[in-house]
Amino acid sequence: MRFDVLTLFPEMFTGPLGASIIGKARERGLLSVEIWNIRDYALDKHRTVDDTPYGGGAGMVLRPDVLVRAIEAVRGDSDAPVVYLTPQGRLFSQEIAAELAQLPRLILVAGHYEEIDERVRQHWVDWELSIGDYVLTGGELPAMVVIDAVARLLPGVLGTESSLQDESFQDGLLDYPQYTRPASFRNLQVPEVLLSGHHEQIRRFRLKESLRRTLLRRPDLLQTRALSAEESKILTELIEEHSCEGRVNGSGPYQDD
Ligand code: ADE
Repeated sequence: MRFDVLTLFPEMFTGPLGASIIGKARERGLLSVEIWNIRDYALDKHRTVDDTPYGGGAGMVLRPDVLVRAIEAVRGDSDAPVVYLTPQGRLFSQEIAAELAQLPRLILVAGHYEEIDERVRQHWVDWELSIGDYVLTGGELPAMVVIDAVARLLPGVLGTESSLQDESFQDGLLDYPQYTRPASFRNLQVPEVLLSGHHEQIRRFRLKESLRRTLLRRPDLLQTRALSAEESKILTELIEEHSCEGRVNGSGPYQDD
């Protein structure tokens, strides 16, 4: 898959997308990331990219002529969708990442400090995405978040296919807790069942802990997900154990279990 990013700060992308899993996948040719400087498409001698908003008000707006010149030059005659990163966009999710991972190419537009001209949003942008309900200084970090989340779903990018299968969100539940050696650490023990070698009990323990975490941290995920008979039964046990009724959700970062 190919990602193109249009930005005023190309240097922001070198570290995060050059290291670790994504860096290696790029070296192996499993994906490519091309970074384009929007300023290179400004024609005046000062290479101006923005201007004051019509109607007045604070801040600056990215000029449509410069940005569209950049988009059209990068897109060429391909039909790659153009995504604009903005807090006003649709909330990015694992589901959207999986949809985007089906595409051969994606063009990401990252604004910085300022908005882009509305006419570009309406006529050149296909989708607007937000990575969460908070405001960052620009779309660069969100663009990297989208690239990372999509890239790791591409065939061959993660070493073992199984690391995709079990993880949080892949099946609509949060991940179960993991432990490794030593079995006793500062007098804290690994749950007995995990040392038992009893595969069926381990599977049920993990499913229960996955459901527990989801119930306590993200009960909203359980509202949209169909539950198997076994999952419903475990959930009833958990609701009993935690007497969840009336629990206030999202009051702060949690340390629940
Ligand atoms: N640009 C600034 N904040 C953003 C956010 N939360 N998501 C996407 N783009 C952004």
